[in-house]
Amino acid sequence: MIYLDNAATTFPKPEAVYEAVDHYNRTEAVNAGRGAYHAARAATQMIRDVKTELLSLCDAREQAEIVLTHSVTTALNQIIFGRRWTKDSVAYVSPYEHNAVLRPLRLLQKRIGISIRELPIDEKLAIDLEAVKRAFAECPPDFVAVSAVSNTTGYVLPAREIFLLAKEYEAFTLLDASQALGLLRLRFGTLRADALTFAGHKTLYAPFGIAGFLLRNGAELDEWLVGGNGNNSLSMDMPSYMPDKLESSSLNTPAIAGLQASLRWLKTVKPLEKEKELMDYLLPHLAATPGVTVYQAPEGAQQAGVVSFNLEGFRANEVAAILDEKWDIAVRAGHHCAALVHAHLQNKKYDGTVRVSVSYFTTKEELDILLEALKEINRDMLKDISDNILRGSC
Ligand code: ALA
Repeated sequence: MIYLDNAATTFPKPEAVYEAVDHYNRTEAVNAGRGAYHAARAATQMIRDVKTELLSLCDAREQAEIVLTHSVTTALNQIIFGRRWTKDSVAYVSPYEHNAVLRPLRLLQKRIGISIRELPIDEKLAIDLEAVKRAFAECPPDFVAVSAVSNTTGYVLPAREIFLLAKEYEAFTLLDASQALGLLRLRFGTLRADALTFAGHKTLYAPFGIAGFLLRNGAELDEWLVGGNGNNSLSMDMPSYMPDKLESSSLNTPAIAGLQASLRWLKTVKPLEKEKELMDYLLPHLAATPGVTVYQAPEGAQQAGVVSFNLEGFRANEVAAILDEKWDIAVRAGHHCAALVHAHLQNKKYDGTVRVSVSYFTTKEELDILLEALKEINRDMLKDISDNILRGSC
């Protein structure tokens, strides 16, 4: 398989991650934060060490606490539902946000009546900072959510500039770094984010099942997900101190051991340089392929290792099905759980986009096979593909 769906999850993982998870599962995989025996204490210490590493990665030591969760969707729900909202609250989102941000806000809109507004973009689909300034002046923000990297076009959004404007109104600022931490240098303090979410299994190259968020010291969230965490067990209330106030359930210690290994590995490689090299090669070739329309970062903005395209005469799902069936190339097609961006990309006739996303392990040779395949695709190839596959996910 030629795997070009790394925005869904990076695959493969570094060898050291497989080894660490396997070793941990066989030798030490006990529950952390509960028992006082030696192995349980070691698991608790490993979690502390990983949190320290994550804080260092974001230059956030002494500035934030880390809450670990099983997925970034859980982290985003904890943050959004942990805020205090009224019917007059105003939440701004970039058009590039994922449904893990949009759907919790939409629930609050239905339940409480909050307003959700899109941050304005220009004709190139770049965030229009002057228009953002005007929008905030007209309707001040209480909450602003921005993705560090669009999971659809690879656009690196100007999060810091947006948050600086939002902070003039003391809005709560949320950076969804699911597609970015480990790839981009994110300095928590200068970003002016109150919370930053991460997904271990994406650009951090860890296994599924470990994610979380940084919460700036002094930024308050109420409990949303509650349960046991080994502390204050005689109380039916969560502990009042951080991070225990917001961190419940048994943490996935084998996945955390994998994250520890991937954090070490990330110090030895340069994924951003590698992805840039691959994208510098892919993008012009993709744009020059007959019938292809490319949806990438706006001109002048940084591009991460994700890009979308369509092929004239085909629905996005059809292209993905042919690539899979005829060339064993794995890409994602459809709307990528990003509800708002597609209206701006104007891709209705294609039913979304075909998305290619690379990782440190992707090769130019694999991209060449993709580019050759796109030149050869024809409608006859659809005859062999079952309707179930063609319907796919959207
Ligand atoms: N959110 C992941 C993606 O973009 C699953 O594909």
